[in-house]
Amino acid sequence: MAEPVIIDCDPGHDDALALLLAAGDQRLRLLGVTTVAGNQTLEKTTRNALRILALAGVPDVPVAAGCARPLVGELTVAEDIHGASGLDGPDLDGPVGEAAGVHAAELMRRLIAGAGGPVTLIATGPLTNVALLLRAHPEVVPRVRRVVFMGGSTERGNTTPYGEFNIVTDPEAADIVLRSGLPVTMIGLNVTHQALATEEVIAGFLAMGTRLGVICAELMTFFASAYRRVFGFEHPPVHDPIAVAAVLDPSIVRTVAAPVAVELAGAYTRGATVVDLHRRTGRTPNAEVAVGLDVAAFWRLLMDAVGRLDQAP
Ligand code: RIB
Ligand code: CA
Repeated sequence: MAEPVIIDCDPGHDDALALLLAAGDQRLRLLGVTTVAGNQTLEKTTRNALRILALAGVPDVPVAAGCARPLVGELTVAEDIHGASGLDGPDLDGPVGEAAGVHAAELMRRLIAGAGGPVTLIATGPLTNVALLLRAHPEVVPRVRRVVFMGGSTERGNTTPYGEFNIVTDPEAADIVLRSGLPVTMIGLNVTHQALATEEVIAGFLAMGTRLGVICAELMTFFASAYRRVFGFEHPPVHDPIAVAAVLDPSIVRTVAAPVAVELAGAYTRGATVVDLHRRTGRTPNAEVAVGLDVAAFWRLLMDAVGRLDQAP
């Protein structure tokens, strides 16, 4: 029985791969996609989500736009990493569908209420929409199986010395999700930095012989140039599809239960995820925290899924 999921995202090069993985593996039933401002503005992340779903051959998956800024503070997009469009690299012009005329939190509410069973929420951007859902519609909480999010880190950050982009963008939202009492799985940089899109990966996309494979190769080539320029990485880490992989095949991501707090007030550390791996605080664990990745199995899962997707329209 395919697991029903909703993906909340801010496409974003790695969000695009997360959507393709979910669309290309029948073990998941992608009920809907919601978009949030993060890597780029809400208008751009929404248009990008529609484009990727069209390219994946699943244009009927409903998409709804959510919050255009974090709960507190202002939005700072990651244009240096994802470009002016949010998906720089390939030429993605072409027909796209329309986003639903409801807010992301309302689409999530409707999909969860109508799913006939528990729904897994996979978040690959700032957690603004997910936090808003939990606060605006507490009645859906019993119908959420768990929240799996890409964000945070057990070590250092990427946006501030100790802050990862999705959490730094909206620390209050992450705090709400981690205090919700729901089963939460955190996929942080300490694991995602192991999933590097090397030349071999790019060659694998090209070897598919499909327009989608070429587009993925061009996305990763741009992503690589950005990560090389900004972070000095030889190859770019694809963060977001690991959150989907953790749902598809839990054996791929090793997790430990740990207390996770979000720093909201630190002058230098606001948005840091403070993960008590050694249980020094005596606090109760509130998340399963990713600490290991079967890198080869992850890439097999992703390449197989993209290879199964239909030709682009
Ligand atoms: O820090 C990496 C995360 O921030 C990824 O989800 C990337 O897409 C950006 O949203
Ligand atoms: Ca993202």
